[in-house]
Amino acid sequence: MDNSFARVSCGAITIADEGRSVELAGWVHRRRDHGGLIFIDVRDRDGITQVTFDPSMNEVFTRAETLRSEFVVRVRGSVRRRPAGTENAKLATGEVEVPAAQLEILNESKTPPFVIASDEEPAEELRLRYRYLDLRRPRMQRNLTIRHRIIKAMRDYFDEHGFIEIETPNLIKPTPEGARDYLVPSRVHQGTFYALPQSPQILKQILMIGGLGRYMQIARCFRDEDPRADRQPEFTQLDVELTFVQQDDVIEVMEDAMRSVWQRALDETIPDPLPRLTYAEAMRRYGSDKPDLRFDLELMDVAELFAGGGFGLFAGLAESDANRVIALRWPGGAALSRRDFDAVTELAKTFGAKGLAYISLAADGVKGSIARFVDDALAAKLRERTGAQDGDAILFVGDASRDATDVAGRLRLEIGDRLGLRDPKAFAFCWVLGFPLFEREDDGTITFTHHPFTAPLPGQEALFDTDPLAITAQHYDLVLNGYELGSGSIRNHTADFQRKVFRRLGLTDEQIEDRFGFFMEALTYGAPPHGGMALGLDRVAMLACGESNIRDVTAFPKNQAARDVMMDAPSTVPDQSLKDLGITIVEPPKT
Ligand code: AMO
Repeated sequence: MDNSFARVSCGAITIADEGRSVELAGWVHRRRDHGGLIFIDVRDRDGITQVTFDPSMNEVFTRAETLRSEFVVRVRGSVRRRPAGTENAKLATGEVEVPAAQLEILNESKTPPFVIASDEEPAEELRLRYRYLDLRRPRMQRNLTIRHRIIKAMRDYFDEHGFIEIETPNLIKPTPEGARDYLVPSRVHQGTFYALPQSPQILKQILMIGGLGRYMQIARCFRDEDPRADRQPEFTQLDVELTFVQQDDVIEVMEDAMRSVWQRALDETIPDPLPRLTYAEAMRRYGSDKPDLRFDLELMDVAELFAGGGFGLFAGLAESDANRVIALRWPGGAALSRRDFDAVTELAKTFGAKGLAYISLAADGVKGSIARFVDDALAAKLRERTGAQDGDAILFVGDASRDATDVAGRLRLEIGDRLGLRDPKAFAFCWVLGFPLFEREDDGTITFTHHPFTAPLPGQEALFDTDPLAITAQHYDLVLNGYELGSGSIRNHTADFQRKVFRRLGLTDEQIEDRFGFFMEALTYGAPPHGGMALGLDRVAMLACGESNIRDVTAFPKNQAARDVMMDAPSTVPDQSLKDLGITIVEPPKT
């Protein structure tokens, strides 16, 4: 080792290092041959440094001629200022270069299936198949670095506030969070299975019964559900639980934690306090229980303005409270063509709308699909209700309340997208509280809204038998930019009450005993009041990085078919492994 060269990273050299002898190691990002010289951009996690090779350095130059993209090199030389006019203001190291005195080729590379130095996005399947190459892209390096900073800030915050991190096991019994379980067959006890945790929910509650008081964990969770842009089969939560707290205490801790994380990891200040909405209000005003508050554009109820009027459909809907007629202002929408509105109508149908009505407002009057039913008086009321002005359009969605709300909520986001109101660099957090404890499944049965351990607001016991769907839960969601970042609740801490909830969900006493007997027993040994929350860490990182897919902040994600295409998992296993587990595959997979 030659100690006269200081080992530096490729992103760290500046003009202050002029004349310094340095050693760089990294990958060949780009190579250019120009005016008899060879220019190589050498890249590591920190950045890129330009290295030049002069033909007068015979042997080094000849070796440099063999360099190709992604070769691994070690270079030594002394830093110099780039000639005037050749600086690169986009690079932190753009004022300097390193003329190579020595070059070692540490490894060669096959021609990569995509160009790492390119701004062009490679195809998703290629990115996942060659993840190690994709990870070399500056964007992935930046994202994983931000993710690390977020995790570190979370651990620091909770450590400073008296929480301890406790690891809970991954080979457990099923914990219901509403998804399917990943099962792991036992060899020692053939015919039986562990479940991988959908979350550490029951275990963290048992930690509270165990007197641990303030727990946190960066926890891996597993849910066998179809992957989506914001969902992976295997993901990470910031999981938190505390004893002797009420809803507001948990909200305050989590809110303070997020404020601290945003400050420490991103140097961004978020409002104090964060806005709070009730579930009912969020649905009514934004058509979603995870409203995107980066822009206003609220859903306005206008059914009563159409009551008794000429437009039969809306006049009919206005007769029952079970329906909504929702007006949505589209700023500047009067400039849209008939064909544009037809396209929006088709989009609304994909959201479940039966149709879409609209009007455009101009100085010379009202146009649009229901213009003939909108006289001057109604137009004036609609303008007043929605805030629409000349040049705007108003969309109308009328249907049964739930359907109209959902369609209008999605159209609202579409308008926000088209008007560029959903800036990925803006952060609009809010809390949504007051969810119903139960909801009705499509098949008519009653299920939990959050999970079966969530407590109702006190004083609603009587509703259990009379009107369970009217019970409000002590359940809160943290929402950011239209995504559910996390959910939490105050828990049922007496066995009697927990049994009541299980029974209400249709479980028999035998089923309760079989699935949750250990937990029901734990509740009978002095379980303290407790509550907590979990944030989806991948979603936090995704939004913090301005990304729209959690795969872009996850080192080794599964693809849309829940496969790891780099490792080729899941895959078949040797017959002997199946024999050891006592498993017979009835229908072998097609190869
Ligand atoms: P919940 O099921 O709402 O609550 O999950 C909490 C948060 O975890 C994230 N999340 C996911 N992220 C990526 N991929 C997935 N498949 C996925 N599923 C969930 C979301 C979600 O808001 N035990 C409770 C929390 C509690 O009550 O303390 C729980 O897991 O961001």
